[in-house]
Amino acid sequence: KAGNLAPTPPMGWNTWNTFQTNIDEPLLKGMVDAYVSSGMRDAGYKYFVLDDGWMTMERDKNGDLVADPKKFPNGMKAFADYVHSRGLKFGIYNCAGSKTCAGYPGSRGHEYQDARLYASYGVDFLKYDWCNTDSLNAREAYITMSQALKASGREITFSLCEWGNHQPWLWAGGVGELYRTTGDITASFDTDKHHGTWTALSVMSIVDKQPAIAKYNGPNHWNDPDMLEVGNGMSFNEDKAHFSLWCMLAAPLAAGNDLRKMSPQTQSILTNKAAIAIDQDALGIAASRIYQADSLEVWAKPLANNEVAICFLNRSASTKQVTYNWNDHAVKNEANHIDIDFTKASYKLHDIWANKDMGTTKKEFKQTLAGHSVIVVRLAKL
Ligand code: GLA
Repeated sequence: KAGNLAPTPPMGWNTWNTFQTNIDEPLLKGMVDAYVSSGMRDAGYKYFVLDDGWMTMERDKNGDLVADPKKFPNGMKAFADYVHSRGLKFGIYNCAGSKTCAGYPGSRGHEYQDARLYASYGVDFLKYDWCNTDSLNAREAYITMSQALKASGREITFSLCEWGNHQPWLWAGGVGELYRTTGDITASFDTDKHHGTWTALSVMSIVDKQPAIAKYNGPNHWNDPDMLEVGNGMSFNEDKAHFSLWCMLAAPLAAGNDLRKMSPQTQSILTNKAAIAIDQDALGIAASRIYQADSLEVWAKPLANNEVAICFLNRSASTKQVTYNWNDHAVKNEANHIDIDFTKASYKLHDIWANKDMGTTKKEFKQTLAGHSVIVVRLAKL
């Protein structure tokens, strides 16, 4: 039975994309402070998640995991208390296999013991990875940890991370609140990065996997296209496109940049209220790609109160003129919960990034779209 821990896509910050295993209490306390002072918390971000690398290489004599005393000299409970004292929720990481992806002790065979330990720390969120799992059955392994969390006595949001290998969109609802759909993201707009045995995925590679599974997305069971790379090296337009698409997809929003050193541009993206409102819309429907030609795409996301979000995306590196006649593009896709016919109802348009009104759907939409950029419009019925 599905719980109600994530009626809208979870929002937070995670250590991995910038720091990997190079984390410790002083660094992270600074990050918690920046989370608050930068306005991230007030924009709706809630979780502060430690990814891989928080523990020692061995369990203790009782078989318990141990927070690395060099990194966390005051222990994990004290750090969790610090996170909570700033009005945030605390998340942690482990793995279904014998070892985590970075080689720390995994939870296999210790699921209930680990869940009890997390509850004693005050953990509110667990990201659970899929390295070193040998012949484990994914669905069963995630159900075991899910039940262990439910038995821990604490409400813990459960984030599955098996990279979409076992079609979690078909079975993860009720097991956890979010599940990765794809491999690891990298801060690249459209070029994957090959690292020997694995490939880090560009924003566009991940986006292209989403239309086929959009219909499985919804409250308390979110398709997770991975954490954000906003502020981690792409251009301002690329970052905006990346963030806009995650919002259109009703994806979990886990920032992964150094919050202490955020540029005003990065901050303006991550804390944009109108973009976040599209992500957090109560219907929880992922956008469908409703048009695609010559590197230009149009994505549509139904919103509550019969509103609609439309995202125009220029995938090419060069500037394009966009001419879009709304009346030619009725959208009906029952599986994806979309039924919009612009010949039957007209809408007024608001450009969310420029924060300006743009006329109505009675007129052709004519705009210039820079390379690797988006225009996102929110439509309300006239
Ligand atoms: C996997 C996950 C990443 C991160 C690392 C940590 O690659 O997909 O998100 O958690 O493990 O080792």
